[in-house]
Amino acid sequence: MRLSSVSTSVLLGVSAQTVAAYRNHDVTVGKGGMLVYDPESISAHKGDTVTYHFFAKNHSVTQSSFDDPCHPLPGGFFSAFTPNPSPDTASPTTFQIKVNDTKPIWVYCSQTNGNHCQKGMVHSINAPLVGNTIGAFKNKAAKASISTSPSNDPPGGVPVGGLRKIHIEVGPAGNLTYSPNNITEPPGTVLEFAYNPKNHSVVQSSFADPCHPLAADGFSSGLIPTQVSPSGAIFDVVVNDTKPIWFYCAQTTKDHCQSGMVGSVNAPVVGNTLEKFIGLAKKASTSTIPPEAPIGGIFIANGTVIKSFGGDVFDNNMGMDEGSYSNVPPPGTKMSPYWTSMAGGSEPSNYHWPSTISNEATEFLQLLEFVDNVLLELLMGGYKNLTNGPWDHLYPKSITDTIQSMTAQAMVHRKTYTDSLQHYKKEIINPCRYSWPIQHVNDFVQVTLVVLLLQIGILLDISATVGPSDSWLIPALGVNMGSKARMTGVLNMIQDHTASSAPREVMLPSELVYSYIMDHYVVPGSCPDKLAWETQLPRLVIAATATDIGKRITEITITITVESTKDLHVAWIGPWGGLVYSPLESKGSGHWSASVPSSLYGHVWAVVVTGQDYKLQEISKYSLTSPEVIWVTDVQQMGSKKKA
Ligand SMILES: *[C@@H]1O[C@H](CO)[C@@H](O)[C@H](O)[C@H]1NC(C)=O
Ligand SMILES: *[C@@H]1O[C@H](CO)[C@@H](O)[C@H](O)[C@H]1NC(C)=O
Ligand SMILES: *[C@@H]1O[C@H](CO)[C@@H](O)[C@H](O)[C@H]1NC(C)=O
Ligand SMILES: *[C@@H]1O[C@H](CO)[C@@H](O)[C@H](O)[C@H]1NC(C)=O
Ligand SMILES: *[C@@H]1O[C@H](CO)[C@@H](O)[C@H](O)[C@H]1NC(C)=O
Ligand SMILES: *[C@@H]1O[C@H](CO)[C@@H](O)[C@H](O)[C@H]1NC(C)=O
Ligand SMILES: *[C@@H]1O[C@H](CO)[C@@H](O)[C@H](O)[C@H]1NC(C)=O
Ligand SMILES: *[C@@H]1O[C@H](CO)[C@@H](O)[C@H](O)[C@H]1NC(C)=O
Repeated sequence: MRLSSVSTSVLLGVSAQTVAAYRNHDVTVGKGGMLVYDPESISAHKGDTVTYHFFAKNHSVTQSSFDDPCHPLPGGFFSAFTPNPSPDTASPTTFQIKVNDTKPIWVYCSQTNGNHCQKGMVHSINAPLVGNTIGAFKNKAAKASISTSPSNDPPGGVPVGGLRKIHIEVGPAGNLTYSPNNITEPPGTVLEFAYNPKNHSVVQSSFADPCHPLAADGFSSGLIPTQVSPSGAIFDVVVNDTKPIWFYCAQTTKDHCQSGMVGSVNAPVVGNTLEKFIGLAKKASTSTIPPEAPIGGIFIANGTVIKSFGGDVFDNNMGMDEGSYSNVPPPGTKMSPYWTSMAGGSEPSNYHWPSTISNEATEFLQLLEFVDNVLLELLMGGYKNLTNGPWDHLYPKSITDTIQSMTAQAMVHRKTYTDSLQHYKKEIINPCRYSWPIQHVNDFVQVTLVVLLLQIGILLDISATVGPSDSWLIPALGVNMGSKARMTGVLNMIQDHTASSAPREVMLPSELVYSYIMDHYVVPGSCPDKLAWETQLPRLVIAATATDIGKRITEITITITVESTKDLHVAWIGPWGGLVYSPLESKGSGHWSASVPSSLYGHVWAVVVTGQDYKLQEISKYSLTSPEVIWVTDVQQMGSKKKA
């Protein structure tokens, strides 16, 4: 859809090419027992991350200025100290920073025991090649004061300005252990538990009562069954203070906790030691686990945060990671609790169904479900692309999360239709196979927007039609419309469109919506179920726009082949049932042009009809094509408004 691409400048202010190039740089710290960072100097782009891996001795990653090496830059980052006896096996603890701009970043090891910084243990990101080079920085560091005033590292000894994380394997190689299990970490560190095959958990207990959850406020991942390694299942818990933390696996088959599958963070070295805790666990009664999970931490399945899995079992098949058709649960399936939680609510508990439903309402519910099937495959595929696919990290997390909750909300909407169809023992409509006109993320946003507009179009049409006969449907349709309209607002903003200040939703006849979807997205012959709409009008191809880019669209040119060329018009379907006609003028060889009426704003639909002045309800009878949507409002004006 060429016309609307005029206005798809990206709000995020970065081109896809730049963002797609984000990468992580790995740097070793003290590898081989040497006082060096390797590489010593790196160049990184804005948005890149740098991950530091710690080896032998007891090093840190501390930011300074160029002028004052070996002393912390106020507000700079600090990894905290990371002891590791091994010169060649990296500590499970890492520190990651994000590069926010291309200004030089200066780093040193703040270990005073051995004066690491003065001995040349320095590092830089984007150091200039002349002038203030890494060499010049190292020379300065050699002469830096050794005194502890100003102190060598930021106060508190806790990590700042980056992510300090310790990776803990849960049940590695089939062993009933956590590796490591005897952890010392400062507050602010993230404990990253990674699950191995079997059916393990990480649950917090007190020292005195191992194998049983803490009375209040403890963390629990729930039991995580998996057969694959790596499983992609991660549970993240933040260390908040220096108090000891005790945890165990609550699996009762083979008594994991009693067999020693326990661990600690910051356990005392005398008194209540980890050894004593293991001893107490051996004698503990049968393990228990809180009924809710995950709590006190964040559970992530292949990059997707799972807010709730209701019980204690994580269903691998429900992950949003597979991408293909099978990944959207089939219509009519029970909503899983975490879908509901992502959607911010479940389907209605009471529909006030009367004893009968009209045939028309049945057909409309099936059409609405048909459109939600399209929307769900689309959102799920786009979400996957944005989290674990070609567009990974292209959008800020808040936007990607919003797309995830849109997906969950569309599930709830579809459930309201299938619940109703099933209640009246009517057929539910299974998904077709789809082929998306999508290559770039902008296409995804545009196609999603169009599907939402199509659905809003029929929701309006259907509300008007079935209101008198099946009034119980009105609240369900109204709620769905409100939610879908909010989604279009979000997509408008991603596209740099002004969100409409007044309702601009366009009513669309169901026949036209059905044709549009069949023409644009459905693989021919792939629909398993029949709908009441059999006529599929041919696709309208709007080939070009006769306007300056960035200005209001005043004219369109289209290409059609029709038998009779008499009395051809473009019918412009605008907000609130608005309908305006403009004549099509022949430009020869099947090309036609029409002017865009100046009374139209925002998204409007164009459809080629014979004749003019029909009412909206009758228009599909005279349509020669399916409709096409364009954004006609002045784009430039909005651009300048945004800058203000
Ligand atoms: C690591 O170094 C810091 C700073 O010198 C020190 O406070 C800490 O006790 C050291 N840790 C170990 C285990 O040596
Ligand atoms: C980048 O910005 C984040 C958020 O403000 C900050 O925590 C981080 O320290 C910054 N990174 C660097 C290298 O300064
Ligand atoms: C598993 O346990 C065996 C026997 O105690 C041990 O040799 C092995 O290193 C352990 N593997 C891991 C990955 O912890
Ligand atoms: C995981 O363990 C729990 C508790 O023993 C059990 O209820 C659940 O069925 C197990 N799940 C699988 C898939 O084995
Ligand atoms: C845990 O580490 C401490 C030293 O930090 C050590 O004294 C203790 O024996 C270790 N305990 C276990 C069970 O490995
Ligand atoms: C740290 O605080 C957060 C937020 O309250 C909580 O979710 C988490 O479980 C706490 N961590 C520990 C180890 O208790
Ligand atoms: C993560 O993805 C892998 C590969 O597709 C899959 O085998 C695994 O089950 C997924 N893990 C989770 C927790 O969904
Ligand atoms: C996901 O990305 C691929 C590759 O760019 C693209 O072909 C596909 O259409 C995208 N899917 C969706 C639903 O956006």
